[in-house]
Amino acid sequence: MGVRVIRARPEQAVRLTQIAHAAKSYWGYPARWIELWHNQLTITSAYILMHEVYAAVDDEEEIGDRGILGFYALGGAGEKVTLEHLWVQPSSFGAGVGRLLFEHAVARARALNGRRLEIESDPHAESFYQHMGAETVGEVTYELEGQPRILPLMEYRLRDEAPDVAA
Ligand SMILES: CC(C)(COP(=O)(O)OP(=O)(O)OC[C@H]1O[C@@H](n2cnc3c(N)ncnc32)[C@H](O)[C@@H]1OP(=O)(O)O)[C@@H](O)C(=O)NCCC(=O)NCCS
Repeated sequence: MGVRVIRARPEQAVRLTQIAHAAKSYWGYPARWIELWHNQLTITSAYILMHEVYAAVDDEEEIGDRGILGFYALGGAGEKVTLEHLWVQPSSFGAGVGRLLFEHAVARARALNGRRLEIESDPHAESFYQHMGAETVGEVTYELEGQPRILPLMEYRLRDEAPDVAA
């Protein structure tokens, strides 16, 4: 299967939303949590127009919705670029699509002149990002149904920091 990465189009919003929901649900979260995350997991046409959103597509499928295997989105500006989404449809897990998307995201973030790619990871995906070369640099705490939910804050260094110039 040949897979390539293309810029997502606004009309693909529904399919991308479906992939985000399916991938998040894969970790076995209760349906009501998925419902609480509905807005975060919804990709609108306007979002696609305003962000760097790229999709992995199967070369053998027509470039319709069916051929989309996963996607990512970048946000932020300046030195800190944020990985706002990275989702692979569950039936394609383990086939290299996540790596392809992550490496593409790193290249795009570098092209945008970022120094750091910041990721608020799902706890289950932390080891994937570490495997890709990101480091855990902190944590972010949210409240979910009255309980704290702690997410690893991760960073991938896009270019070497300039060394301190000794006086
Ligand atoms: C995490 C996720 C993006 C990985 O995508 P994937 O397509 O299954 O990953 P790949 O097949 O490209 O794997 C790339 C490499 O990472 C490794 N890897 C994959 N998942 C891993 C994990 N959970 N922990 C450690 N390594 C992992 C693979 O072994 C592979 O290693 P290699 O290329 O050195 O041989 C995907 O499983 C997913 O979408 N999960 C659910 C949604 C989610 O939580 N996304 C992140 C939101 S913050």
